[in-house]
Amino acid sequence: MTIDYVHGYSELEARRLGDQANALAALLHEGTSYPAGSKVLEVGCGIGAQTVHLVASSPGARIVAVDVNDASLAQARARVAATAPDAQVEWCRADLFDLPFPEASFDHLFVCFVLEHLRDPQRALVELRRLLRPGGTITAIEGDHGSALFHPDSAAARAAINCQVQLQSTAGGDALIGRKLQPLLANAGYGGITVQARPVYADQSLPELVEDFTRNTFIAMIESIGDDALAAGLTTPDHWRRGMADLHRTTEPGGTFHYTFFKAMAANPPGFRGSSALSC
Ligand SMILES: C[S@@+](CC[C@H](N)C(=O)[O-])C[C@H]1O[C@@H](n2cnc3c(N)ncnc32)[C@H](O)[C@@H]1O
Repeated sequence: MTIDYVHGYSELEARRLGDQANALAALLHEGTSYPAGSKVLEVGCGIGAQTVHLVASSPGARIVAVDVNDASLAQARARVAATAPDAQVEWCRADLFDLPFPEASFDHLFVCFVLEHLRDPQRALVELRRLLRPGGTITAIEGDHGSALFHPDSAAARAAINCQVQLQSTAGGDALIGRKLQPLLANAGYGGITVQARPVYADQSLPELVEDFTRNTFIAMIESIGDDALAAGLTTPDHWRRGMADLHRTTEPGGTFHYTFFKAMAANPPGFRGSSALSC
C-alpha cells in the first residue's frame, strides 16, 4: 500500500532517508532515550532509518514500528537486523489513522518527518494520543523549509526550494510544519509541551556535514522533485538548472548552509484512559 507521498518510495529516496538519519542522529536523537521495558511506538518508520538510532539509544525498550508502506517496512526490518540483530522490534503495516492497538497501550510515541506529509496532522496527533497511557510522552521531529538560509544567496535557489514547498502542499502536506508543532500539539490535547529548535549549519570547516547534510540530504531532496516541478509548471528548465547550480555552490569553498529542525516533546495529560482494541 502507498499513499500520496511527495518524496515517493524509490531506491534513491531510501538512500537519502538513511543518509539524513545518520547525518542528523546526534542532533535529533540527543535527549531521547526510553527506559528498559517501556513500550515505544514509532509512527511512520519508513525504511527504519530512525529505528536503528532508537534501538541504539534505548536498548531495553520494546519498540513497535509502524508504516503504511510494505516495501519500506521490509527494508526497515532488514536494516535493523543488519545493525542490531538482537533488537526486539515488532513491525506492523498499518495506517496511523487506523492503528490496531489498544488505547493507552504505549508509554512513548516517536514521530519523525511524518506529520509534514499528512493532510490533517492535528487529527493524527489526536488519534495517536489515544494510544498513549496517561502521562506517556510523544516526541515529534519535523523540518521547516522556510529555515533554509545559505550563502551565496540566490533567488533561483530559493525558488527551487519553494517548488518543493508547493508540491508538498498540493499533495496535502506542509513543508513548513516545524514552526507549527507547539500549536498542533496543544490543540490535539497534549500538555507539558516543549519545542527545541535544533539548527544544522555547515561550511567548508565541516566537510562531512556539507557532504552528508547539505549535499546528500537537503539538495538531494530538492533535486529529486525536479521532474514533478517542471510537470506542474512551477519552474522552467533554465530556472531549475540555475536554482540547482546555485544550491550546489553553497557546498563549495566559501559557501555556507543553515537549516533548522524542530523537536517537540509533550505528554498525554493524566486522566485520559481508553478501552481496548485489536493488536497488530
Ligand atoms: C519521510 S518518511 C520518514 C520515515 C522515517 N520516520 C525517517 O525519519 O526516516 C515518511 C514515512 O511516513 C509514512 N507514512 C505517511 N503517511 C502514513 C500513514 N497515514 N500511516 C502510516 N505511515 C505513513 C510513509 O510511508 C513514509 O515511510
